[in-house]
Amino acid sequence: MKAKKNVLLTGGAGYIGSHTFLSLIENGYNPIIIDNFHNSKKEVINRLEHIIKCKINLIEGDICEREIVLKAFEKFDISSVIHFAAFKSVEESVTKASYYLSNNIIGLLNIIEAMRIFKCNKIVFSSSACVYGDKEEMPVSEDTHRKFVNPYGQSKIICEDILETYKNSADLRYLILRYFNPIGCHESAMIGEDPKSELSNLMPNIAQVAIGKKPYLEVFGNDYNTIDGTGVRDYIHIMDLADGHVAALKKIEIEGVNTSINLGTGKGYSVFEIIRAYEKVSGKKIEYKLCPKRSGDVPIIFADIKKAKKVLNWNSKRDIIEMCRSSWQWQLENPDGY
Ligand SMILES: NC(=O)c1ccc[n+]([C@@H]2O[C@H](COP(=O)([O-])OP(=O)(O)OC[C@H]3O[C@@H](n4cnc5c(N)ncnc54)[C@H](O)[C@@H]3O)[C@@H](O)[C@H]2O)c1
Repeated sequence: MKAKKNVLLTGGAGYIGSHTFLSLIENGYNPIIIDNFHNSKKEVINRLEHIIKCKINLIEGDICEREIVLKAFEKFDISSVIHFAAFKSVEESVTKASYYLSNNIIGLLNIIEAMRIFKCNKIVFSSSACVYGDKEEMPVSEDTHRKFVNPYGQSKIICEDILETYKNSADLRYLILRYFNPIGCHESAMIGEDPKSELSNLMPNIAQVAIGKKPYLEVFGNDYNTIDGTGVRDYIHIMDLADGHVAALKKIEIEGVNTSINLGTGKGYSVFEIIRAYEKVSGKKIEYKLCPKRSGDVPIIFADIKKAKKVLNWNSKRDIIEMCRSSWQWQLENPDGY
């Protein structure tokens, strides 16, 4: 029997990393997690072990410490890397710019350096729709001019450019995945979204209102030029996103593609549309309060998904009702998170 390929998941205990871990297992890979639990809880590891019924290879440590990254490569014969580890709060990045830039950039540089030393040349990188800044024409395709409107977005653009730089010098094969808005949980509802940081995104906040933990949802802005005045986003089920990583990995194992790909559904939903969908699946009334717009929020963004279909032969399968149902299932079965 052929040995399973070792895939290093930096930030593998986080929201997207933990779900991708399970998709990789299902597809016959051997994922190895490196995480410092800055924004994730150790219970994630227990839950993953419970689901897969065996121990996980885990390195607890900070990827900004070069020695820790080198030790991971020394210990395991890593065939490829999926690099999730980063700080991700747009709001926090504005007040702590150097903290964000250094964690996100130094982490990537240490990973690339270790890959070069250990002759591992395949990497999938977590980027974000925020590299499109405040673009007005929709949908956004991958060749849209990138522009940052906050330090988090700047860190993603710099990291994308670093990968391009190393393409020749380290013979790197990379796929940059630009995520839109992942929501929902694994079908077991044993893992889901429960960061240590404050939840600032829409769906977990709606879930908290539905379960009675918050009295109302704050809706930021209702006079945008959109279908009903509220912000429009492209939401994608977390397991569709996780499967997109497996497709990306398979692609770079076969060819050196070195490109960027949007992972979204290609459809935008307004805040009010999401509230209605959530009310339908939960049977709960979602109270809300209109609040001023937040600086840095764009009115509308959704993905052009043609390239994902063409290059990865991947597209999302779950619709918005299924996404809301999944989020509600996580909330009901884990009212206090992990
Ligand atoms: N969730 C989203 O909406 C979204 C959207 C677009 C892009 N992204 C990107 O996807 C990636 C994963 O996002 P997520 O939602 O799973 O975030 P997350 O915070 O849940 O997971 C990130 C993980 O990385 C770890 N980490 C951070 N810095 C580290 C370091 N220096 N060393 C070791 N571990 C470190 C954290 O502890 C956490 O477990 C990030 O790069 C993020 O920027 C996320």
